[in-house]
Amino acid sequence: MKQGRILSGVQPTGNLHLGNYLGAINNFVLLQKNYECLFMLANLHAITVKHDPKVLQANIIDTTAAFLASGIDPQKNSIFIQSEVSAHAELAWIFNCVARIGWLNRMTQFKEKAGSNKEKASVGLFTYPVLMAADILLYKATHVPVGDDQKQHLELCRDIAMKFNNDFNNENFFQMPEPIIPEGISRVMSLRNGTQKMSKSDESDLSRINLTDDSDLIIKKIQKAKTDSEPISININEENNRPEAKNLINIFSALKNQKPIKTLEEWDGKQFSEFKKALAEVLVDKICPIGKQIVKLKTDIKFLENILQDGRKKAEIIAEKNLKEIKSIVGI
Ligand code: ADP
Ligand code: TRP
Repeated sequence: MKQGRILSGVQPTGNLHLGNYLGAINNFVLLQKNYECLFMLANLHAITVKHDPKVLQANIIDTTAAFLASGIDPQKNSIFIQSEVSAHAELAWIFNCVARIGWLNRMTQFKEKAGSNKEKASVGLFTYPVLMAADILLYKATHVPVGDDQKQHLELCRDIAMKFNNDFNNENFFQMPEPIIPEGISRVMSLRNGTQKMSKSDESDLSRINLTDDSDLIIKKIQKAKTDSEPISININEENNRPEAKNLINIFSALKNQKPIKTLEEWDGKQFSEFKKALAEVLVDKICPIGKQIVKLKTDIKFLENILQDGRKKAEIIAEKNLKEIKSIVGI
């Protein structure tokens, strides 16, 4: 018996990194045993900012390969492209009429991505969380595994679900989807600045570990990762001025599948130079096999395209049925 239905998405916008892996994909792999899962390549979200059409297409294949290489089973789950199930865009329009401008004005991701010149941002970037709510509620997903940065969007999704149920006197139509956010490592930070999240868009490649980095590059990036001159201390979490040190401890713990306190007990009083060697080793063990598998899978594009086709068919059956019901409730 499955414990519920999962929907999550990743934007096909470039090389996936350790943040995507620990914040999202690794969790997908763990959850697939107990949930019915739909994993979506969010290309409609990716066009809310300036993009290169050819690169976007290529990134769909790369991201699909990364899902499989990380251990997502395409037989048991649906992996599909968001734009290929047109019900997402249709439901997003309906939800545009349910969500309130005031709610969207509070979204911190919009503020960060739009930067200082909000007037010049696309309308799509502003209503991005509405499309995300459509992605989730179209499948009546019960759980949504995401990194901590998406938590606010999940709350907005719940607000939309609740208002829809109220507005149309259909109290139990949408269940409130629950976020599943990884404990301990919900936000992997940049290796160059422990106060910024690890991100595809950071100009410095040294700030992140990409899933396709080879072992030499991983070792180099960890050696160069910013730390401070203090040794590791068991009380690191009470010290507010050591974000880079905490980040490396959290990454190590997540990869070893252990609580950060256990790592701190093991390494209390030791130097970061020594710790970095151990960290590089676990990273190479975990990430390099995935990178190699990505390269291998990309030699058979047809195979990956077939997986996306099958995924679309499975997703479409659920989406069409639910959209029909939603339209009838709304009176269209
Ligand atoms: P991004 O441009 O932020 O990498 P994605 O759509 O690729 O956006 O993100 C996919 C998933 O990876 C989301 O669930 C997101 O929360 C997660 N994620 C992205 N960056 C990080 C990070 N630095 N730490 C933890 N999770 C992250
Ligand atoms: N906005 C998410 C991100 O950038 C990706 C995404 C799109 C998503 N639709 C979703 C995540 C639905 C979870 C559920 O990370």
